Amino acid sequence: MTELAVAEKNLQKNGFLDIDVDPTLDLVAEINKLKKEKNAVILAHYYLDAEIQDIADYVGDSLGLSQQAASTDADIIVFAGVHFMAETAKILSPHKKVLLPDLKAGCSLADSCPPHLFKKFKEKYPDHMVVSYINCTAELKTLTDICCTSTNAVHIIESIPKDKGIIFAPDRNLGAYLIKKTGRDLILWNGTCMVHEIFSHEKITKLQIRHPEAKFIAHPECEAHLLDMADYIGSTSGLLRYTHENDATEFIVATEPGIIHQMQKKSPNKTFIPAPPNNTCACNECPHMKRNNMEKLYLCMKHDLPEIELPEWVIEKGRASIDRMLEISAKAGL
Ligand code: 13P
Ligand code: SF4
Repeated sequence: MTELAVAEKNLQKNGFLDIDVDPTLDLVAEINKLKKEKNAVILAHYYLDAEIQDIADYVGDSLGLSQQAASTDADIIVFAGVHFMAETAKILSPHKKVLLPDLKAGCSLADSCPPHLFKKFKEKYPDHMVVSYINCTAELKTLTDICCTSTNAVHIIESIPKDKGIIFAPDRNLGAYLIKKTGRDLILWNGTCMVHEIFSHEKITKLQIRHPEAKFIAHPECEAHLLDMADYIGSTSGLLRYTHENDATEFIVATEPGIIHQMQKKSPNKTFIPAPPNNTCACNECPHMKRNNMEKLYLCMKHDLPEIELPEWVIEKGRASIDRMLEISAKAGL
């Protein structure tokens, strides 16, 4: 059996093609060559390692990545991100090949809302609409009326008539933030993101004492007690814009620290301090995003594996919820 055949056989178990890559290979050059040869486009989320962000054709937040996935005319979409993001790309481009360098790049938030349990939960509120944060599985999207991202969530909620009840899934922290911002009485699913729920209030307060001029900025997936102390709350693209446009020169950043690469690129003379979690680490990386690396990206582009495949019914039903979101965002100019 060849090394490739063994790796393919073990693909589901490992999540990626476990093949040794020659350490002398210039991976940047090889990946760029494969991109051209195969008419592929690489999409990367802000939380990815800097070298992957730098080789991607588009780096963005969940909304930007969905819009990009919908508009690309490449034959292959390579998603440097996590599983639900690649599923979203497949839903929006069902006739294209969608590759994810590691199938095990999951998401604690998406996993916190198993569709079979959510279906039962939803049955308790038959008159309610379901708005789901895009950080959920493709199957959950089939149980959803309108998707949203952290960029457009407030707009999506406000686009729904005031007398209509709404279930919001899966992130209870973003949900609580939306209740506060919109004054709507949302029914929340009790899910969280493992990265955003473990920032340490105590360590952040100490950092603020040491850096009195620093602005504290946070993603709305953080817990309410942290959002209450934030100078600015926003999606990854919102946080990036704020650090660039604000006059402050120091920022304490409460989201996954991968975003700091773009912050630093846009504002090279400013200082960015990753907010620490309540363990012994100095920063708070998403272990799912970080399953992506240059070797896996190269191997997946070379062999067109692992590929994301979805049943027809999931693509059809899931697509309606994402299309509604994209329509509302486009109308709002987002
Ligand atoms: P946004 O980039 O849309 O703010 O999402 C953050 C996130 O947690 C993605 O996994
Ligand atoms: Fe999921 Fe949180 Fe990682 Fe984003 S940062 S992929 S929400 S676990």
